[in-house]
Amino acid sequence: MKRIGMLTSGGDCQALNATMRGVVKGLYGSFKEVEIYGFLEGYKGLMYGNYKQLKAEDFSGILTRGGTILGSSRQPFKLMREPDANGLDKVKAMKDTYKKLKLDCLVVLGGNGSQKTANLLSEEGLNVIGLPKTIDNDLWGTDMTFGFQSAVDIATDAIDCIHTTAASHGRVFIVEIMGHKVGWITLHAGIAGGADIILIPEIPYDIKNVCKALDRRAKQGKKFSILAVAEGAISKEVAALPKKERKALLANPKHPSVAYEIAEQIKAYGGQEVRVTVPGHTQRGGSPCPFDRVLSSRFGAKAAELIKAGKFGELVVLKNNEVTSIPLSESAGKLKYVSPDDSIVQNAKMLGISFGDE
Ligand code: F6P
Repeated sequence: MKRIGMLTSGGDCQALNATMRGVVKGLYGSFKEVEIYGFLEGYKGLMYGNYKQLKAEDFSGILTRGGTILGSSRQPFKLMREPDANGLDKVKAMKDTYKKLKLDCLVVLGGNGSQKTANLLSEEGLNVIGLPKTIDNDLWGTDMTFGFQSAVDIATDAIDCIHTTAASHGRVFIVEIMGHKVGWITLHAGIAGGADIILIPEIPYDIKNVCKALDRRAKQGKKFSILAVAEGAISKEVAALPKKERKALLANPKHPSVAYEIAEQIKAYGGQEVRVTVPGHTQRGGSPCPFDRVLSSRFGAKAAELIKAGKFGELVVLKNNEVTSIPLSESAGKLKYVSPDDSIVQNAKMLGISFGDE
């Protein structure tokens, strides 16, 4: 008999259910008897003992369903060692639940912060396997996270829709895409959607360069321009501020988001008509795309394989198109950023896409 706990933690994404289904199918294929315990709303469920025992049937018909049948919540890693409002020792409480249920392994579907906690629990002696979730694709150690391609599809659709209306009206359009710290979705959707300018957190922009790029398009006789802007895009001036000042400035923004600030600056520069579109959380919604369904199924199967082999403390990853695993400790606390030197950025520049940096 194998007793496996599972939880989905942090911001959701489209392929969480598909991944859990993969794990469970793999487990039932590997062991005669399996008991699955699903913790509700992420680590909260593990802390407060909120769980339900699930059967194989509970994972049927969920390959294409977005969201998570277990629910999710954000439980910041930095607060894990701090007691909750009632003085509860969170780490101890999670270990107690694990022991009370006599689990053989805890499977954590989560992004960067969630995997840091998974690593902490592993260091505390629990058998843990991590599965790399996040639309942001910023988890260090994996070429791709599940959820990313589905989000890219939705963001690309948004740019595609803007393209037709932009062509009719000859305006400048800004599509603001998710990603506070990293620009992977914006970069991919921007290229896929044929954006003229891509602004991401890792490559601070100069608004003068953005306006010059718009001028160049106008001189070429182009009636409209499209900017794909990450929510965390940052100007060179702001990026150059000391950390404390920068944080204070970003904590009290004058605009609803960076896209509106850039729109105002573009209007002020050339008097052009500018419109802003923010697809927001639609990027995390709906069904997983086929790519994610395949990736999630493969990740799930790998997690079951690791459990069967008794290889714990591992994060399942994609490396050079192979599904493999690395120690949780190797990935914990590191973000996978876009580098300005990445070939994808260089390729985009060759195509004439401006990043506002030169
Ligand atoms: O981490 C995924 C993500 O969707 C980011 O791209 C975005 O910045 C953030 O979560 C939004 O968080 P919330 O759903 O808490 O508003």
